Amino acid sequence: MVNVAILGFGVVGGGTARLITDNREEIERLTGDTVNIKYILDLRDFPDSPFADRIVHDFNIILEDPEVDTVIEVMGGSHPAYEFTVAALKKGKNVITSNKEVVANFGDEFLAAAAASGVSYRFEAAVGGGIPVISPIISSVRHNKITEVRGILNGTTNYILTKMFSLGESFEDSLCDAQERGYAERNPDADILGTDAARKIDILTALVTGKLVPTDKIHTEGITNIRKADVLAAEKLGMKIKLLGRCIIEGEKVFVIVAPFMLPSDSALFGVSGVYNAVEVIGEPIGSVMFYGPGAGAGPTASAVVADLTEIIASGRNYAVPTFTKDEGAASDISELVCASYIAFDGACEACVKSVFGEVTFVESEDSVAFVTAPMSEKAACEKIARLISERGATLKSRIRLV
Ligand code: HSE
Repeated sequence: MVNVAILGFGVVGGGTARLITDNREEIERLTGDTVNIKYILDLRDFPDSPFADRIVHDFNIILEDPEVDTVIEVMGGSHPAYEFTVAALKKGKNVITSNKEVVANFGDEFLAAAAASGVSYRFEAAVGGGIPVISPIISSVRHNKITEVRGILNGTTNYILTKMFSLGESFEDSLCDAQERGYAERNPDADILGTDAARKIDILTALVTGKLVPTDKIHTEGITNIRKADVLAAEKLGMKIKLLGRCIIEGEKVFVIVAPFMLPSDSALFGVSGVYNAVEVIGEPIGSVMFYGPGAGAGPTASAVVADLTEIIASGRNYAVPTFTKDEGAASDISELVCASYIAFDGACEACVKSVFGEVTFVESEDSVAFVTAPMSEKAACEKIARLISERGATLKSRIRLV
């Protein structure tokens, strides 16, 4: 019998406990062993829960119990998740997590600690919720020369954008709805400001480059500045606006960015709506592959956690293990990143736009002069925007890059 302890009895912890219980026979069939949830750590008591008798409030009970083989950390946040994870790995316990914050901040350290103790550290649920994406990237796709990994990595913002722009609902109502469904982070700023997506693209970047970038070195923009007029403009262009995390590898340069992008209808990510996430991996010789599925919520996330658990029980460490090290300078300055942009200005005439940006495609707009530029470097785009503001007194309303 494999004894596990779950740290955190929130949305994901509850889903994981239920799935382990419901799938008892299937887990035994797959692994040849039974799983017992011995402890659930939480600050609260849950007297009405079927797991009430497993609740403990002191992590040391779990740490010091030699029968506990695997710790499932689904608390979220960096601390005390970091301390609990290090302690468990050093004690020779496997650790599984859905906590992208702690993986993005300390994943390199945890993998090294796990290797030193001969145990596993797995985090399939940390990116893309229920989508199997970590394992395929480190096993099936690793023999390609990867040129880009890009994805819709945050279910909450994709849900909000879908509801706002397809159904015309307000930002606030859509956010509340996402929170009620258990999609959003405890502090939804991490979703709407792009931080959660930055942590996830950080992890994916580490898998394909071997280098973990400090998340605050990733250029990150959220969805809070997207205006209804921008969505209408995107529709006129036959495009959609999606919050993307992108890791673009060009020779020695690795550009990592999280921002809203306009996607053309032939993009693999164009039709990814609602809480769904998708990760597209582009490389040679494979071309483009996409991993698609529900990116948040109790059931999908628990599914990925339980997949990690069964893999550990069935295979031990006999599977592809990711390796990466922290590298402060691994992300290149995005000033050299080249892309076209949709730009909207108040107080600029079409002639002055052309005099600064050269040939552009104008988009009909009620409240501004809106246009799409030719592809140009980030540095050039920023310089031209600044020129139009300083020389013509124009006000920038929007700028959204195109894929
Ligand atoms: N808040 C996250 C999201 C949860 O909406 O995608 C899953 O990581």
